[in-house]
Amino acid sequence: MRGLQDKVAVIAGAAPGNIGGASAKRLAEEGMRVVAADLNEGAAQAVVDEINAAGGTSVARGLDITDENSYRDLVTFTVDRFGGLHGLFNVAADLSAATIGRDSDVTSVPVDVWQHTIDVTLTGYMYGIRHTLPVMIRQGGGSIVNTMSSAVWLGETERVAYQAAKSGLIGLTRHTASLGGRHGVRANLVSPGVILTGAALSTTTAQWRDEMLATVRSPRLGRPDDLAAMVAFLFSDDGAYVNGQSLLVDGGASFT
Ligand SMILES: NC(=O)c1ccc[n+]([C@@H]2O[C@H](COP(=O)([O-])OP(=O)(O)OC[C@H]3O[C@@H](n4cnc5c(N)ncnc54)[C@H](O)[C@@H]3O)[C@@H](O)[C@H]2O)c1
Repeated sequence: MRGLQDKVAVIAGAAPGNIGGASAKRLAEEGMRVVAADLNEGAAQAVVDEINAAGGTSVARGLDITDENSYRDLVTFTVDRFGGLHGLFNVAADLSAATIGRDSDVTSVPVDVWQHTIDVTLTGYMYGIRHTLPVMIRQGGGSIVNTMSSAVWLGETERVAYQAAKSGLIGLTRHTASLGGRHGVRANLVSPGVILTGAALSTTTAQWRDEMLATVRSPRLGRPDDLAAMVAFLFSDDGAYVNGQSLLVDGGASFT
């Protein structure tokens, strides 16, 4: 895609087999220099090792997205190392059994689950934007992509904290699109449908996947590469006139 060569990307939530990891690899293939960050620094390092072995340029960093200082350090490191920051992909989430596994409905969700989900998925994304936007404005432009979920559009009866946090990203993204737009900084949302990450493949049954397949207008379920392609487009000059939008990448499962 046009305009990605030698630009600098930060992926917040990159591990092998997941959406962030696939995006880091795709952006490096497009010629971007990539900082892959994750709470699990070893996982980010594994993504980076693969990119660098394939001839790309990538560095791993530890990141706790719930800690503003940690996100500020990541942005400072990136600018010091590579001289700028052109694409920020906020994609982290805590999908562990301890968190999303206890994210029930509004009558019973534990407050610690609610708070932690907001901290990771909404406040954490805000920290990233807060420290990246001034850099992008100073350098004359950039692109920010936040990760929502098709669950927001479905109005599920469970995972209330997850849906509430993801829904909050609509306002955060539109605000950022308005604030940054005149300075050449775009902000958009991607909403994955059912994406068969490494973790999803190892924790779901064939029967569940067949049931999910029946809900999509596509011959297959989603892959991390499907999101990576959308992020590459939104970071690129080909996406230059797309700002403040929510883009479903769900095989046509839902219409909005
Ligand atoms: N996979 C799907 O089917 C699907 C569907 C809808 C939405 N999504 C969204 O897409 C995004 C990526 O999903 P995925 O399936 O690749 O998830 P994943 O769990 O594989 O990846 C999320 C990453 O975030 C990291 N993370 C967790 N807490 C963190 C913290 N405090 N600081 C920094 N990093 C942290 C994890 O270590 C992990 O590597 C998430 O925002 C998720 O909500 C995924």
